[in-house]
Amino acid sequence: MRPFEPTDLDAYTARIFGDAEVLRYLPKRDTPARERAQRTMDFFNDHWNQFPYAPWAIVEKASGELMGHCGLRFITEIRETEVLYALAKDFWGKGYATEAARASVEFGFAKVGLERIIALAVPENIASRRVMEHCGLVYEKDVQLFGLDCVYYALNRKT
Ligand SMILES: CC(C)(COP(=O)(O)OP(=O)(O)OC[C@H]1O[C@@H](n2cnc3c(N)ncnc32)[C@H](O)[C@@H]1OP(=O)(O)O)[C@@H](O)C(=O)NCCC(=O)NCCS
Repeated sequence: MRPFEPTDLDAYTARIFGDAEVLRYLPKRDTPARERAQRTMDFFNDHWNQFPYAPWAIVEKASGELMGHCGLRFITEIRETEVLYALAKDFWGKGYATEAARASVEFGFAKVGLERIIALAVPENIASRRVMEHCGLVYEKDVQLFGLDCVYYALNRKT
């Protein structure tokens, strides 16, 4: 897991924002894939300037291939820190999202000193909900955010 680099744009566009299956449960946008990928990379890199955390690019160690993103971001609208993740289809089902999300949650509590981390998904995104549960997050409520009906999971820092 490392910050995004400008050279990630092609792979990030093709593997995440250019793949309808990956986008299936994410907020709908009219923005073209490449622009959406660039905006997201810019948003993540800018996030590092405002907070001691942000989502990383995740790269497969063996191949050096960009797999997607995972990490923490602050949601201004609800003033909570969210763990988020998206992987290219070729890398699904190998435990990578669980590994990356766990590392992000641990980083948030141990290194950043956060008090609470949440996660959001549309209810039918079972894979995402399993990742949250593997990280110890617990379902709290249903919410509407970014035009989506979402399930809201959370984990408080252990005292
Ligand atoms: C959600 C996502 C990141 C999961 O990635 P992954 O690397 O396949 O996840 P893992 O391999 O760590 O598996 C997590 C769990 O989900 C389960 N799972 C994976 N795909 C599934 C599917 N299509 N349906 C139901 N469960 C699924 C796995 O079996 C595993 O559960 P288990 O440990 O109880 O067996 C990936 O599917 C993805 O990128 N989806 C598109 C983007 C997205 O929806 N992001 C989340 C937005 S909230």
